[in-house]
Amino acid sequence: MSVAEQSRAPGARAGVLGGPRRPAVIQGGMGVGVSSWQLARAVARTGQLGVVSGVALDATLARRLQLGDPGGHLRRALAHFPGRAAAERIVARYFVPGGIGPARPFRPVPRLGLRPSPARTELIAAANFAEVFLAREGHDGMVGINYLEKIQLATPAAIYGAMLGGVDYILMGAGIPAGIPALLNAFADHSPAQLPVTVAGGSGALASLDPASLGWADSPPGRPAFLAIISSAVLAGYLCRTEASRPDGFVLETPVAGGHSAPPRGRLRLDDSGEPVYGPRDAIDLAQVAAHGLPFWLAGGYSTPRQVAAARSAGAAGVQAGTPFALCRESGLDAALKRRLLEAATAGTLAVRNSAQASPAGFPFKTAELAGTLTDPEVYAARPRLCDLGYLRTPYQRADGSVGYRCPAEPADQYVRKGGLAQDAQDRRCLCNALLATIGLGQRRPGGWTEPPLVTLGQDLRCLPELLHRYGHTYSAADVVRYLLGAGRTSAEGPAPRTSTEDQH
Ligand SMILES: Cc1cc2nc3c(=O)[nH]c(=O)nc-3n(C[C@H](O)[C@H](O)[C@H](O)COP(=O)(O)O)c2cc1C
Repeated sequence: MSVAEQSRAPGARAGVLGGPRRPAVIQGGMGVGVSSWQLARAVARTGQLGVVSGVALDATLARRLQLGDPGGHLRRALAHFPGRAAAERIVARYFVPGGIGPARPFRPVPRLGLRPSPARTELIAAANFAEVFLAREGHDGMVGINYLEKIQLATPAAIYGAMLGGVDYILMGAGIPAGIPALLNAFADHSPAQLPVTVAGGSGALASLDPASLGWADSPPGRPAFLAIISSAVLAGYLCRTEASRPDGFVLETPVAGGHSAPPRGRLRLDDSGEPVYGPRDAIDLAQVAAHGLPFWLAGGYSTPRQVAAARSAGAAGVQAGTPFALCRESGLDAALKRRLLEAATAGTLAVRNSAQASPAGFPFKTAELAGTLTDPEVYAARPRLCDLGYLRTPYQRADGSVGYRCPAEPADQYVRKGGLAQDAQDRRCLCNALLATIGLGQRRPGGWTEPPLVTLGQDLRCLPELLHRYGHTYSAADVVRYLLGAGRTSAEGPAPRTSTEDQH
C-alpha cells in the first residue's frame, strides 16, 4: 500500500484500528453547537477525542457571521476553505461588520430539500469545514464530528465539508447509519456518493454529491473512521453484515444519555410521569457486540472514574461522555443557562426527564426542567407553533406524486393537512429553534420576543457534585478528562455504585 493509499485507509489518520490514538474518552457530539469547536479543541488537546456537533452548522455559521464574527475565527477558517469563490459568497451574504442589532432577526439559510441547491451545498460544506478546521487548529490531537442519521438531506455535503477540514472520526446516531461507510469510501476516492432518503408514502429518494463536480479540491480528502452510535447488539450485527455498511467501531448508548435515545424495545409503555419504561431487553449484549471484533465505547451515565473503569473492564475501549462536558466552561451552552443548571445541580434540584413526545424526531429526548425554557408549560404555551428552519422535516409523497416536507412540531393543522397524524403533533417542541436559542442564537421575532431555549442533559448526574467539588463552577474540559481518567475513587467517596455495565455482566 502506498503512503497515499495508507493515508486514505479507514482510520489511518486517527489510528483507530488499534493504534495509540484510540481514545479512552470521547467527548460526545452535542447539538446544536453545545459541542462547539472550542470544546472539541480543548478535549483534543488533552489527547482524547473532541467531537464537534455537525447539526445545523449552516445556520450557526450564518448567524455568527451576522453577529459580526467576534474574534474573526469563522472568516479565518473560511479563508482556508478550498472552494474559494464559495467561501467569498458566504462571507458576502452573511457577514455583518460589528453585528446586527439585538432586535434584528437573523437572515434565513436555504432549507434542506431534495431539489439541488448549490447555495445550500456550499454553505453546509463550508460550515462543516470551518467547525472542524477550528477544532483542529494548533494541535495534532483527534477531532470528530457528530451527525444525526435523521437529518439525511444534509449528510453528504456536511460529511464532505468535514472531510475537507481533515476530520478524524465521523460519529452518527439517531437512526441506522448503514450508508455511511460506503459514502466515506467514495468521497475518499473523489467519487460521487449517495444516501437513500426515506419518503413517507413513496418509494424513497437519494441525497447525492459528486465532489469532483464541485471543483474544490484536486486530491481526495483522507477517510475518517466511522463510529455508529447505537443501542442494540442486533443493530451492530445488522451493520456488520456487509463491508459496505460495517463501521470502524461502535458507541453503545444507554437510555439515560443526554439528547435522543432509542425507544424501548417492543410496545412503548410510559410510567406515571410519562417517561418510556425500559426493561432487561433494552440492555446491550456487550459480548455479542464484541464478537464483531470492533472497538466500542460505552455512553449514557459513563461519566465518573468508576464507570470508566467498569467500562474498560467490560472490554470497552473507553467511554463517551456528554453531560459533564455540556456544563464545562468551553461548551457552547448559553452562559446564563449553564450557571443556572450548575446552581440547580449544586442544590440537588436539577431534574432531567425522558420525554417520549418532545422531539419531532420521534425518539425519546431528555429535557432538563428549567423555568423560562420549553419545559415550562407557560413558555411552551406562549410560543406560536411555526417551522422555519426545517432540519427535522421529513419528505412525504403528495397525492399528485410530488414531494412535500412536514414536521410534527409545525402548526398541527398544517401537519395534519400534509397527512401527518394529529396525535404525533401533540406536545412536540421545535428543537431546531429551541436548540439554537440554547446556545444564544435564538431567532428574534416580530413583536419583540425571542425563541425560548430547551436544554438537554443526561439523566445520570452523579458526576456533577464531584466535578464541582473538585474544580468549582467554572471547571474546564481538561478537568473533566482528568476527572474521568483519574486514579479512581478516594476512600472518602465510598464504594462504587452498580453500573449498567455491571448489570449487563
Ligand atoms: C447537551 C447534549 C446534546 C446532545 N446532542 C447530541 C447529538 O446532537 N447527537 C448525538 O449523537 N448525541 C447527542 N448527545 C449525546 C452525547 O453525545 C453522549 O452520547 C451522551 O451525553 C452520553 O451520556 P451522558 O449524558 O450520560 O454523559 C447530547 C448530549 C447532551 C448532554
